[in-house]
Amino acid sequence: MNKLVDVLIIGSGISGLYCALNLRRDLKILVVCKSEITCTNTYLAQGGISTAVDKDDIPLFICDTLKAGKYENDIEAIKILTNESINNIRELISMGVEFDKESNGDLNFTKEGAHSVNRIVHTKDNTGESVAKELINKVMQSDNIEIYEYTYFVDIIENQRKCIGAMLIKENEQINVYSKCVVLATGGIGGLFSNSTNQRILKGDGIASAIKHDIEIKDMNYIQIHPTAFYEECEDERRLLISESLRGEGGKLLNINGERFVDELLPRDIVSKAVYKEMKKTDSNYVNLDISFLGKDYIVSRFSSIYKECLKRGVDITKEYIKVSPAQHFLMGGIKVDSNSLTSMENLYAVGETSCTGIHGANRLASNSLLEGLVFSRRCAININKNINYIKNNVIAVNKISKSIEELSEENSILVKEAIKLNGGILDYELFNYR
Ligand code: SIN
Repeated sequence: MNKLVDVLIIGSGISGLYCALNLRRDLKILVVCKSEITCTNTYLAQGGISTAVDKDDIPLFICDTLKAGKYENDIEAIKILTNESINNIRELISMGVEFDKESNGDLNFTKEGAHSVNRIVHTKDNTGESVAKELINKVMQSDNIEIYEYTYFVDIIENQRKCIGAMLIKENEQINVYSKCVVLATGGIGGLFSNSTNQRILKGDGIASAIKHDIEIKDMNYIQIHPTAFYEECEDERRLLISESLRGEGGKLLNINGERFVDELLPRDIVSKAVYKEMKKTDSNYVNLDISFLGKDYIVSRFSSIYKECLKRGVDITKEYIKVSPAQHFLMGGIKVDSNSLTSMENLYAVGETSCTGIHGANRLASNSLLEGLVFSRRCAININKNINYIKNNVIAVNKISKSIEELSEENSILVKEAIKLNGGILDYELFNYR
């Protein structure tokens, strides 16, 4: 079957949906997701979204982002990120997202590692879910946006170095979608690792497609390890994240002998390494995180989701230590894009974790990922809105897909792992075996 749309968006995380909502209402848009629309890393995000608190905070926010990223970041991209942060947060609020507030009605900013000041807006400890729900509602109400759930993205369709659509498989049927622009919002790569906080379905499909078509990718070895995932004996399950905001609000890391061993609010890569070293030193599979001293009422209200999830797993965090260990969490690299999220192929854009805007450098500053998703997917939409009238739909014959989704997925995984290896490989942690 063939289908014609104006814009095809692959992925339903914050960047895919926010892009769709910022596109012109006269455009016919198709959003495709591999599973149900909520099965994204955005939905899982706990901590919050970083933002400049006000204009005066922008220089410090730039410095914090650069320092965490080991000065390997793209300074121009960071300027865009920080300058446009306040407006995008306002836009989310105007869409109905409810962030936590002070008693006087001002936004409540929390702190996370390597931020010099409190600048993370949040909805308790389930910010991603609250943002995603609003965006999903808005997308569902938009007559010009169609959604295909449980649809596998096979590959983009290329004609003379221009992207003209993508091949999909939905209910065992091949659908060739021809579109004026394609936006890859395919998320992270945690599904490639046995030990990750990511949704298991996320395996870098967009990046694999970019590799097949010689589209520029960058920094594939810059993979962030989160220091505190809930430790439990389980095979091949997604690890429950224990948000950095617990440490931001005073949580202490202790080794199994009850000793503190690191400043909990150092950049994430440093804390992860310290945790890993301590685990080795004490011959343990975990360290402990203590927040019990914050008091039951505060913990249950501020960290309600984490409290409930840990309780389900037999741990009362108001009284007991939380056993934690590092887990793969985020890809800083990805498909190289310019400041409008355009890739090295005409009419092909990439947004969110699958893209590499350069803002994160070698290590992402906490809570900068949802902000990047917002700022650069909006810029992507604005760029498409301006240029799309000059692009025509182009239909060419494509081959019939002869492989199963499992085979295609396995081939993609190999390509992405190879790209990571070619770039220097992942940090030397035994814990991070591929699946
Ligand atoms: C967290 O809440 O610790 C994760 C936030 C992030 O990945 O930036």
